[in-house]
Formats: sequence, structure tokens, C-alpha cells
Amino acid sequence: MSGDSLNVRELGVRFTARRGPFMRGEDVWALEGVSFSLAAGETLAVVGESGSGKTTLLRSILGLIAPTSGVVELWGRQILSMTNGERLAVRRRCGYVIQDPYGALPPTLTVLGAVTEPWNIVHRGRQAREDGDVKAKDLLTELKFPRELWGASVRYSLSGGQRQRVAVARALILAPELLLCDEPTAMQDVSTRAEVMEVLNRRAEAGMSMILVTHDLLLARRAARRAIVLYRGRVVESGGTDELLERPTHSYTRALLAALPRL
Ligand SMILES: Nc1ncnc2c1ncn2[C@@H]1O[C@H](COP(=O)(O)OP(=O)(O)OP(=O)(O)O)[C@@H](O)[C@H]1O
Ligand SMILES: [Mg+2]
Repeated sequence: MSGDSLNVRELGVRFTARRGPFMRGEDVWALEGVSFSLAAGETLAVVGESGSGKTTLLRSILGLIAPTSGVVELWGRQILSMTNGERLAVRRRCGYVIQDPYGALPPTLTVLGAVTEPWNIVHRGRQAREDGDVKAKDLLTELKFPRELWGASVRYSLSGGQRQRVAVARALILAPELLLCDEPTAMQDVSTRAEVMEVLNRRAEAGMSMILVTHDLLLARRAARRAIVLYRGRVVESGGTDELLERPTHSYTRALLAALPRL
């Protein structure tokens, strides 16, 4: 379908459990029969309990996991059938904020170095470097990242929430057309969470497509018109976030809602 950034059809991912003398694991279908599409400029929330397959979904979209069955198409093309050069070009159109901010950043760099790194891999020359520097500083400022830590070591000097904001800046510096965010605000407090979401929403309003993985249904509703609910690797509910919150049909969605603090 033209106009879609992403098409996922009947996606299945099976992990083969490790077996040994003391371990008798069973194969896990981390995803089964997952289908949805994402229009250009649309934001989709992906909600589900721990282990429901959210991270596996994002990794399969980027071609970091080969699906056991089904198809993933980015801008009309299957990433796994591309040449290495084509795959690289498509990956550059995608940003990925991985769930674990400790694993997301190259540990030897400074904050500014970590944010500019993706830019400097793509753009060469002195002028481009200066441009990248300016962009990185603008992004860090927009994310309210403390200026006195711009030169600090990523490994030693940052809190989890600060790392996560560096990871967001790093994912945004190449102005992705599609951003995949895995719990991008899980380690933020209330005020920095709002700031990070504001930055993401601003990009979305400017035309970026986004998949937002979150446990937080209220955050999902604020950021996305549409959501899918994953439960044990299957889509058990999908539709408008307003309806999902007002008339949840699946017992899991109801349980998620019941767990929200009353406002
Ligand atoms: N590399 C792997 N090898 C084997 N099993 C895996 C692997 N990665 C994920 N799984 C299994 O697949 C299922 C889905 O995992 P996934 O990480 O996608 O869940 P999630 O929804 O992101 O959970 P969380 O909210 O805790 O991040 C889980 O049962 C997990 O144990
Ligand atoms: Mg996960």
C-alpha cells in the first residue's frame, strides 16, 4: 500500500529455547500472527505486559531479528530481501530508542560525542561536523539536558533518565522518518517525561511516523490516536486509544486500566 511507512503482516517470531542437562525449555512464540500498518506521519502505541513481545516486534521491524513467518515491509519493501547497501539506507531513515539506556550508548564517549556519532558516520567534512555539533546541542537543549554534563562521560556520569534522553537525542539527530521508541520515558520523572514526550510529539506533528512502546495507557492516549495491545505475542485488541480507554473489550486491557492511579 502506498503512503504507508510500515506494513506488518502475519508476523511470527519463534525463539528456540536452550536445552541442556538441567534445562528443558520449550520454544517460545514471542509473536504470532501480528498484522498492522502505519501510515506516514502516524503514531501507533504498542501496549502490553512484560514479555508480551513488544521489543521483539521493534527488533523484527528493523530486521535485527528474522521473522519465523510473515512479512515486514518498510516503505513498501521487505528489509530482509535488500542488499546490504539498501538495508543501510533504509535503517538510516529509522530511529530506534532501545529499552535499556545502559546498553544504548557507546560507553567510551561523552554526551555530545554520543549524540553526534550517528551524524558523523553519515556526514563527512569540517562544515558537516560543525553542523552536527550545533544540531546535537539544539537537541540536548530541547530535551532539557543539563549543559554542564554535555562533556561528561556517558559511562560514569549519568543517571538512567539522563542516559535515556541522550539515547533519544541520538535517535533524532538524523531526523528519522520513522522512530521506534521502546519505553522512552520509563526512567524519567514526571517533569522530564513530559519534556521528552513533547519533543517526540513535535517531531510527530511535523510528519515523523512513530511506534511508541509503553505500559502507560494514559501516555499512549496522549501521544497516539491508535494502539495495539499485545498479550503473549498476539494482538488481542486494536483501535483508537480513546475507545480502548473508554470501552476496553479484552480482560488484559481492563486489568491495565484498573491498575492506573485514579486521577
Ligand atoms: N533472544 C531471545 N531468545 C529467547 N527468547 C527470547 C529472546 N528475546 C525475547 N525472548 C522471549 O520472547 C518473549 C517476548 O520478549 P520481549 O522482550 O519482546 O517482551 P517485552 O514485551 O518487550 O517485555 P518487557 O516489557 O519486559 O520489555 C519473552 O517470553 C522473552 O523471554
Ligand atoms: Mg521490552
